[in-house]
Amino acid sequence: CGIVGYVGQRSALDVVMGGLRRLEYRGYDSGGVALVHEGEILSAKKAGKLVNLDAELAAHPLPVAHTGIGHTRWATHGAPNDVNAHPHLDATGRVAVVHNGIIENFASLRNELEARGHEMLSETDTEVVAHLLHDELERTADLSDAVRAVCRRLEGAFTLVICDADQPDVVVGARRNSPLVVGRGEGENFLGSDVAAFIEYTRNAVELGQDQVVTITPDDIVVTDFDGRPAETKEYHVDWDVSAAEKGGFEWFMLKEIDEQPSAVADTLRGRHSPGGLLQLDEMRISDTELREVDKIIVIACGTSFYAAMVAKYAIEHWTRTPCEVELASEFRYRDPILNKSTLVVTISQSGETMDTLMAIRYARQQRARVLSICNTNGSTIPRESDAVIYTHAGPEVAVASTKGFLAQVVACYLLALYIAQVKGMKYGDEIDGILAEIGRIPDGIQRMLDEGDQMRKLATELAGSRSILFLGRHVGYPVALEGALKLKELAYIHAEGFAAGELKHGPIAVIEQGLPVFVIVPPKGRDQLQEKTVSNIQEIRARGARTIVLAEDGDEDVVPYADHLIRLPKVPTLLQPLVSTVPLQIFAAEFASQLGHDVDQPRNLAKSVTVE
Ligand code: G6P
Repeated sequence: CGIVGYVGQRSALDVVMGGLRRLEYRGYDSGGVALVHEGEILSAKKAGKLVNLDAELAAHPLPVAHTGIGHTRWATHGAPNDVNAHPHLDATGRVAVVHNGIIENFASLRNELEARGHEMLSETDTEVVAHLLHDELERTADLSDAVRAVCRRLEGAFTLVICDADQPDVVVGARRNSPLVVGRGEGENFLGSDVAAFIEYTRNAVELGQDQVVTITPDDIVVTDFDGRPAETKEYHVDWDVSAAEKGGFEWFMLKEIDEQPSAVADTLRGRHSPGGLLQLDEMRISDTELREVDKIIVIACGTSFYAAMVAKYAIEHWTRTPCEVELASEFRYRDPILNKSTLVVTISQSGETMDTLMAIRYARQQRARVLSICNTNGSTIPRESDAVIYTHAGPEVAVASTKGFLAQVVACYLLALYIAQVKGMKYGDEIDGILAEIGRIPDGIQRMLDEGDQMRKLATELAGSRSILFLGRHVGYPVALEGALKLKELAYIHAEGFAAGELKHGPIAVIEQGLPVFVIVPPKGRDQLQEKTVSNIQEIRARGARTIVLAEDGDEDVVPYADHLIRLPKVPTLLQPLVSTVPLQIFAAEFASQLGHDVDQPRNLAKSVTVE
């Protein structure tokens, strides 16, 4: 969910709606706002995307106020309808609450409130908070105090932002396991799920810690823990500006973000290395001695980041000779994994807030493993709870389906593998300059794939009627195939599946029928016979009627007789090929979905940052 809070001199409604628009990628099942105006809470909320709320506000305008909160929702408790939309008010309409996360003990709190005579209007856990606050505010006049008292009773994960009709010029926020940042302005202050909420007004942000309550007034920001003790805060400057959070002439954010990939890769590489010197990571609280003792690496992530993790395994094992496992974050801690202090757990998360991933690293740390995170969001929870961090420098990613975030993650995985090779004194550690130079040339290869994007747009038109599309790859091409299929599922809502090319003959080949489109990512020619074997796989499916779309490097003539459509890739080393081969698949998925009339940036049922398990 996306959350905004504002106090200052501007129209709170304008600030809050602007912030919600920038946060809408976090969830768009419903939207709502509440303003404090002349001793009253005025609110509006509507199911569906924010345009519905805009229409509601146009039909029933709210007066100008200077204190307000807002919410854009990804539904957990209760259907995505008007009643369940946030904000939620207590019975007297004195406090308004917006919330992200899940309050796990809400059923017992609700029973307790109902026994005291409270009546709830919605099915949400959030309304329970509004009612608890109502009771607390009979005890104390101070909203921050009341919020702290309620927070002490809540279990689970939550970000709460609250305003009170009786306390104009005050907005209170609280967080546990769920994101909230403060924007520091002059004569005005902001709260947001992330800095995009207020980037238009200020680039000065304040990071909140776990279990903290923040009170903002036009001139002050006060942070305490849940018991009211003053808390340390960290101020930081946001190094991107508002244009990074805007479409800049592209039809969709996703197309803009695909287009930004050459710089996402180059920026992630930049400043990591001086010729002949050591690789630099961002934050390293694991000593070289500890790193040398690492005898197993486990990479965990969700969604697209999980496919970056799969690529990481190939690079890590090849360059460091350290056994590496890859695991979905949501499965990891339930399989009773074998961890100890010589295990390095690597986690990959664009947002740094994915709850499945966060819970996995907490578990890993309890088991005394070291945790290194690869993340695109400065100061987010996952890097804060890690022993070491490599930040990707892809810039803010707004489209729900990840693109530049993914390529930057893959680069960070290569950097990590090389770093470990260097520290462990492996042979590849001495070849870092050469390998980095190869990666350094990749942005040009990506640019070429972008320049040749029209072939993918044409292909999308030709395949427009398809209800099912398969993707095959080998080695690091296998995760690329999975990612190609995921993009199509996410955006076009059709059946798409990725397979290891060699595995097809062991079962899935049965689904091949006349005209079924199958993308095949062909590895570069090398000593390992991967290319030859993949060419055989193409023949197997073509003989059974598949329509083949073959991605193969320049000069690979072997594939020509079996390719109904041939997409050329620049020549790059095998391990690095995902950085170029993913790009046409992204363009294809975006174009395919766009032609079907879907919202490419905000696909149905999804949210960019899933802060529940
Ligand atoms: C959500 C998004 C996916 C994303 C996944 C992991 O499910 O819809 O696009 O890949 O979360 O996100 P993370 O921020 O942890 O990389």
